[in-house]
Amino acid sequence: MNKTFYIKTYGCQMNLLDSQLVAGILAEEGYELTDDPSQAGVIMVNTCAVREHAEQKALGRIRELLGHKKEDPAVKFVVIGCMAQRLGEELFKLSPGVDIVAGPDSYRKLPRLLGRLDHQPICSLASNKKEDYSKVVAQRKRGISAFVSVMRGCNNFCSFCIVPLVRGRERSRPPEEIAGEVRGIVAQGFKEVTLLGQNVNSYRWEGTDFPSLLWRLNEIEGLERIRFTTSHPKDLSPKLLEAIGGADKVCEHLHLPLQSGSNRILQRMNRGYTVEGYLRLVEEARQAIPDLALTTDIITGFPGEEEEDFQQTVEVMGEVGFDASFIFKYSPRPGTKASKFMDDVPPQVKAARLTTLIELQRRITSARNRKLVGTTQEVLVEKKGKLPGQLFGRTRTNKPVILPAKEGLMGKVLRLRIVRAKGWILFGKL
Ligand code: SAH
Ligand code: SF4
Ligand code: F3S
Repeated sequence: MNKTFYIKTYGCQMNLLDSQLVAGILAEEGYELTDDPSQAGVIMVNTCAVREHAEQKALGRIRELLGHKKEDPAVKFVVIGCMAQRLGEELFKLSPGVDIVAGPDSYRKLPRLLGRLDHQPICSLASNKKEDYSKVVAQRKRGISAFVSVMRGCNNFCSFCIVPLVRGRERSRPPEEIAGEVRGIVAQGFKEVTLLGQNVNSYRWEGTDFPSLLWRLNEIEGLERIRFTTSHPKDLSPKLLEAIGGADKVCEHLHLPLQSGSNRILQRMNRGYTVEGYLRLVEEARQAIPDLALTTDIITGFPGEEEEDFQQTVEVMGEVGFDASFIFKYSPRPGTKASKFMDDVPPQVKAARLTTLIELQRRITSARNRKLVGTTQEVLVEKKGKLPGQLFGRTRTNKPVILPAKEGLMGKVLRLRIVRAKGWILFGKL
């Protein structure tokens, strides 16, 4: 049997990390990763289900990659991740040729499923609320920055969101496991970790909450930076702000999804906070953490969103002045509460609102970044830049910085003078 595998990943950082976990699980059984699908005995696609567009992209890629199986019928074709969990057996019909469908709690079973000799399609979707993939050694590409999960699943049931339905209930990992993993990563040469969870603010393991976890990881020698995502506004505590402000390795950046600037819509979204509460939080955060960068997620065209609701979002975005925003058109997801509401905002209105917000954010981002020109920023050099002669790093506030390449700078924290800002990207000089 050809024990090389290829894996293509869609979706969020958690999914990227899951692909590394799957690679780790398969490596234990003697499988080897390749980045050439035409050489692989196993082809996998790790999918996202958050919006219909994400599913269409994955389905398109699956169709394309199935071509390799036509050439070599011995290839085993595997679809994993959130769309796999959502569609289950339907995938065998939608994408004939798929052999194995496995959801986010079934990855430990993959070697066993791949080892089966019969050629029956098989689907593994059982949710396991204890599965946190502890002890699995993720196979990470060497580098400077690594993802580490602190929890999996979600209990929030925002009315638009498929994640709780496909990833199951929230489970936190024991702090000693997380600390052990981070120490191991640092020993491999990584300098930065990004802690992942759908809502890291609700992390809890016995006496340890998320802020105390941050303080604990802050002690790890050799680690330069700690980042985390995502924070849910409803659970963000003053203790967390203290940790960001006080723990020297924890970076001054909060990703705090707002979703909408209208209280009526927020309530229909089941978000659990009001615009006033959100703005108060932003003020507290900015007071506790000077130079804090704030980023957010927004949905346009949620069911029932009137022009007035949308204008409120425009206002709040102007008032907060986010450093960056991720803006999405609402996409109904089967099985969610919002999918039972009438999807009544016409597509062209959703799209126009999206464009308006993207434009608004572009102006705000440029203005905020221009203010950084002339300042000195701490930049961790993470990788080569896109052009030869360039390196790529990030400020503590997570802004990308391009700098001239020089020997020996990779993985170093430099103090750079910002000489230019071009949209979201900064240019720095030693
Ligand atoms: N756990 C994170 C992010 C989950 S998904 C959080 O709570 O913020 C990332 C983003 O996708 C969400 O913040 C939301 O803005 C967007 N999103 C989720 N479901 C969506 C849907 N059905 N249509 C459009 N955007 C959606
Ligand atoms: Fe989805 Fe809400 Fe959970 Fe985020 S907090 S994953 S948006 S249900
Ligand atoms: Fe992530 Fe998409 Fe699943 S955003 S949690 S891969 S639905």
